[in-house]
Amino acid sequence: MSGMNKKLNIPEDTIAAVIGHPIAHSRSPLIHNSWLEQQGISGRYETIDVTPAALPSFCDDLRHSHLKGINVTIPHKEKIIPLCDEIDDTAQKIGAVNTISIKEGKLHGTNTDAYGFIRNLQTSVSDMAFKDKKALVLGAGGACRAVLYGLIEQGMTDIRLTNRTTEKARALAAEFKGVRVIPWDERADHISDIDLLVNTTSLGMHNQLPLEMNLDSLSSHTVVTDLIYNPLQTDLLKRAAGKGCPTVGGLGMLVYQAEKAFSLWFGDTPDITDDLIKELEDSL
Ligand code: ATR
Repeated sequence: MSGMNKKLNIPEDTIAAVIGHPIAHSRSPLIHNSWLEQQGISGRYETIDVTPAALPSFCDDLRHSHLKGINVTIPHKEKIIPLCDEIDDTAQKIGAVNTISIKEGKLHGTNTDAYGFIRNLQTSVSDMAFKDKKALVLGAGGACRAVLYGLIEQGMTDIRLTNRTTEKARALAAEFKGVRVIPWDERADHISDIDLLVNTTSLGMHNQLPLEMNLDSLSSHTVVTDLIYNPLQTDLLKRAAGKGCPTVGGLGMLVYQAEKAFSLWFGDTPDITDDLIKELEDSL
């Protein structure tokens, strides 16, 4: 490495990065740097702390950089949309950009979170089916939008959505066709016939409140997934597994959204090795 990219204030050999504020604890460098090495691509994936005020000028500098692309995380996923030169349909419908490819000085925004969510389920559950199936989705925050987009795109026709703040669920149901709102207090009354239960809330995360939900009527065929990956197995997943349900943790979604971004930038689909998963698990 010979020096720094002056404008972006990053090492010169940086070819991709994740921006956010704060960003220090991102696991994305661990994932992408292991794949860069695996694929024999020289260059590094870095974290760049960009404040909201600095985002527009960062995007201008990025256009003229030699980076292949960036990932975008909190708090910039929505605000970066008008700063891109092109936004694809997926990012438009999800209303957030998590991946930008830089081509000929132009910023192309997309969103790989829905892909990550769906792929994680498909690879974890051998007979995973979506078409005409029923789901209950808990939560109506940013992460929920990618989940709804993914489920609808896969052909789910009965999606029940519930959130502590009902208004937020209603707003999403107005946007995503086929989604209907269930009162938060009645969430346990709508699980007996579902094929998939998804937690997109922060309840159950390390240092957060637990997710309280009676699972008595849950059938053992229902796949239960949590977007949370710290802990790797939330209390919800443990209780569902105890009932015989297939369960899927959130770490795979993080890895698969990264896989799609990597292949967009570099044209190669990386191998997701057991060593990488182990390293990620150990980093939590
Ligand atoms: P993310 O981008 O990860 O989805 P978020 O946008 O902050 O994060 O959303 C957090 C989700 O967890 C929301 O659905 C939130 O419910 P509200 O919309 O009512 O805030 C949910 N959540 C967080 N704390 C909660 C709690 N104590 N009880 C119920 N839901 C909670």
